[in-house]
Amino acid sequence: MRAIVLKEIGAPENLVLADVPMPVMADNEVLLQVKAISINPVDAYVRRTKEALDQVYAYKGTEEYIILGWDVAGIVTKTGKAVNKFKIGDEVFGNFKFLGQANAYAEYVAAPEKELVLKPGNVSFESAAGATMAALTAWVSIVNHGNIKKGDKIIIHGASGGVGHYAVQLAKYFGAYVIGVASEANKEFVLGLGADEFIDYKTQKFEEIITDADIVHDAVWSEDLNHLERSLKALKAGGTLLSLVIYPDEAFKEKAKKEKNVTALHISVSPNETYENDLEFIAGLLSTGKIRTHVSHVFPLEEMDKAHTMIQTKNTVGKIIVKP
Ligand SMILES: NC(=O)c1ccc[n+]([C@@H]2O[C@H](COP(=O)([O-])OP(=O)(O)OC[C@H]3O[C@@H](n4cnc5c(N)ncnc54)[C@H](OP(=O)(O)O)[C@@H]3O)[C@@H](O)[C@H]2O)c1
Repeated sequence: MRAIVLKEIGAPENLVLADVPMPVMADNEVLLQVKAISINPVDAYVRRTKEALDQVYAYKGTEEYIILGWDVAGIVTKTGKAVNKFKIGDEVFGNFKFLGQANAYAEYVAAPEKELVLKPGNVSFESAAGATMAALTAWVSIVNHGNIKKGDKIIIHGASGGVGHYAVQLAKYFGAYVIGVASEANKEFVLGLGADEFIDYKTQKFEEIITDADIVHDAVWSEDLNHLERSLKALKAGGTLLSLVIYPDEAFKEKAKKEKNVTALHISVSPNETYENDLEFIAGLLSTGKIRTHVSHVFPLEEMDKAHTMIQTKNTVGKIIVKP
């Protein structure tokens, strides 16, 4: 089968098309014909970072090649002996084996049944694939940890990006008042997702405009805690700071608690948890049109390097999808 292998750590051009053997399936896995692959910033990070790639491949098998990728939508073509949730022909999607070796940049992939859910018939493979890690991350952040509810005021940083564009829609679904933060070029896009207000991070200081937020969903990279400090200022007493990129250290957490009774948390889609129910809920929201995936670019498998070049700009609008 065709797959994208990583020749060596480094530039996007190191991702090359190759012919590799079909995957070997475990008893609890299904063999998927991959219809769409979603690309996230972490894909580019692992591709260029030795420590991260070592972590992914800590339990590597005997293969001589490295295939990245964790997020797919596809069709079940075979089922392992212990599989009882799916049958051949089912259309499914999911983020699996994260952050281990999942081998999803390929025409076929073996995936554990417990990390997949049925794709609704009226949702495209591209939309479903896009919603794997990105929508799940938004969900884990603002629903599971933020406990978002009607009337909450929430600031969503990176509102035009993969995670953020789902976070805006989910927050609106739960009845929150949403302030989306991105750059001016994406203002209409973010307001079109349902945001009540828009802040351009390039020309405005959000913490001077909003100082009474219940929740801040902070998905912005910075070298230090500076951005989290600013997000803390935008929160009202008793609020919740959800940090998806930077780890707030103990001193920061204590300060947030002491000064403003703010709970500061680092959020991640944990490899030790299963998110079957969460992803099923997301599938339902996609199916009923309560949330949608904005796919900004679709690349064929052989152009994986272009997808990586684009995701690492940190300025993606919605999702980038690759199709085998
Ligand atoms: N913890 C986890 O489990 C987890 C999971 C998924 C993602 N993440 C992380 O979360 C971040 C976002 O992921 P993503 O997939 O949404 O990335 P993405 O698709 O590349 O989107 C990045 C977004 O950030 C916006 N942005 C850039 N600088 C900003 C700033 N200073 N203030 C506000 N917005 C800013 C960009 O807006 P403009 O284009 O308008 O400038 C863009 O909308 C990444 O760092 C990713 O690694 C963490």
